[in-house]
Formats: sequence, C-alpha cells, structure tokens
Amino acid sequence: MLDAAPVHQGTDAHAYCSFQQRVRSRYHAFWYHLGERLAWSRGIYREQPAQDLHDLNGVQYERIASLQRRFRVRFEQRATQGTALRQYDYLDLLNQGWSALRLLHSTGGTVQDIGSSNFWYAPVLHTFFRPSKLIGVEVEGHRMYINGYSRHDYAQGYIQDLPNTEFHIQDYRGYRSPADIITAWYPFVTPAPVLAWRLPLSLFAPHVLFSQVAHNLQPHGVFLMVNQGKDEAAIAAACCRKTGLTEYGTCELRSRVRPRLPPPILSCWMRQPA
Ligand SMILES: C[S@@+](CC[C@H](N)C(=O)[O-])C[C@H]1O[C@@H](n2cnc3c(N)ncnc32)[C@H](O)[C@@H]1O
Repeated sequence: MLDAAPVHQGTDAHAYCSFQQRVRSRYHAFWYHLGERLAWSRGIYREQPAQDLHDLNGVQYERIASLQRRFRVRFEQRATQGTALRQYDYLDLLNQGWSALRLLHSTGGTVQDIGSSNFWYAPVLHTFFRPSKLIGVEVEGHRMYINGYSRHDYAQGYIQDLPNTEFHIQDYRGYRSPADIITAWYPFVTPAPVLAWRLPLSLFAPHVLFSQVAHNLQPHGVFLMVNQGKDEAAIAAACCRKTGLTEYGTCELRSRVRPRLPPPILSCWMRQPA
C-alpha cells in the first residue's frame, strides 16, 4: 500500500493515497457535505475578553509589549488570553517576515486570506495591512464546534468591529476576485494534513489553488505564504513556480510568542510579468 507521498501538480490525490486514507476521506466527505447542507448557525459568537494577559514569560512579555507599542493594539481587550497570544504570534511572524524581506509597508488595497478557519487572525491582518477591504475565504466555514457555534459564527464575532471585513464560505479554487495582497497561513500542500483536519481529499489540489492565486493577484500584488518547516515550504514553492508565480524571497521565522517546531517559513511571491 502506498503511503501519503508528495502529490505533484495536477495529479489526483487519491491515486497517491492508501486504501485506509481513501476510506477516511470518504468519511470526512460525508460530514463535510452534511455541514454544508445544514449551514447551521447559532448566531454571532463573541469571546470573553481577557482584558489583561497573565503568566507570560520574559520573552513573551517583551515581544508583546513591543508589538503593542509599534502597532497600537491590545488584542486581549477583544479576545481570550489564548486567542490574543495566537494573534500576537501571527503579528510577530508577519512583522519579522516583512522586515527580513524588506517589503514596502503600504496600506490600503484588497487583502484576501485563503483557508481562514474561523478567521481568528482577522484582527492581525487588519492591524498589519490596514486594508481598504479584507476578505477571509474558508471552504469549511460551516464546521460546528462542541458548543454548537460554527466557524462562521466565530468569524462574525472576530470581524464584527473591523471595518470593510468579510468572511466568505467558499472554495478558493473557484474564487475569482482581484487582490493586492493574498495570504495563506499553512495551506495544504500534502494530503496527510487534509485528513488530519478531517477534510476529504477532494479538497486537496494545491496546484489549482495557487493557479487561482496567480489569477487573482493584481500585477503589482504580493502573495504571502507561511508553511510549516522547510520541507513543506519546498513542496509549496515548487507548486507556486509551476503556476506562474515568481519568488521574491523566503525566510525562516522564529516564533517567540508561541514557540513551535519546525520553525515557520514565510515566502513572498509575485505574478510573472506578462
Ligand atoms: C491548516 S488549516 C490553516 C487554518 C488557518 N489559516 C490558520 O492559520 O489557523 C488550512 C485551512 O484551509 C482550509 N481550506 C483548504 N482548502 C481550501 C480551499 N480550497 N478554499 C478555502 N479554504 C480551504 C481548510 O478548511 C482549513 O481551515
């Protein structure tokens, strides 16, 4: 039986997966389609704000204080401590990557995020890019949590106070809309994480996904991707190159707020000039 091997451009994920993985995929497909059909909502979910952060170690404290000063933000005033820490972490990573690659920090324009989960990091993207429009696109937005709220319900809570921000439940592979900046945090580039996230393998098609990025990106636009470790980043990069995106730069990031291994890799892509 074949194990989850790297899947190449345009190939069918199923052909590279074991029988067991295909069975799991079918099981996930059942729940995914049921969720889509039910489109359940309990109403907007708002987190109980922590107000202040507690029990930080020295590194976390310093890093967060510096981000708060630089970006004039206090995520804990609108989110629980757990979410706020994750938000500072993503802000720190974005800030590190942007400086390392010496990207210009312009504001405004349309920012799209691919695979936003419940869009808990919308405040981060809003703080960092100051976009005129921010859109999170998530294919499984109807996924329900144990408390009966859905990802969509959470997303509405996270974006409620952010101007010009939307959460779209849609497959990005069919999402046609121009963007100045497109971000993707940990997109699926191998089949195993798709199953680990309890999704069917029919959703696995990185080549098609990145082709859509290349199509939606404005000529001056930037595609910013974060991958888990060098191996995953290399697979993602190979995929991007095949879809007409040109690499601008790559750097390894250090998660100082929520340390994790392997270190995240941030890469930046542009459309090939016509
Ligand atoms: C590894 S998770 C990352 C979630 C989020 N970006 C984060 O950093 O917490 C990948 C996400 O992409 C979503 N996804 C996968 N394929 C997608 C597609 N074709 N269009 C939109 N979302 C997709 C999944 O449902 C999942 O929520």
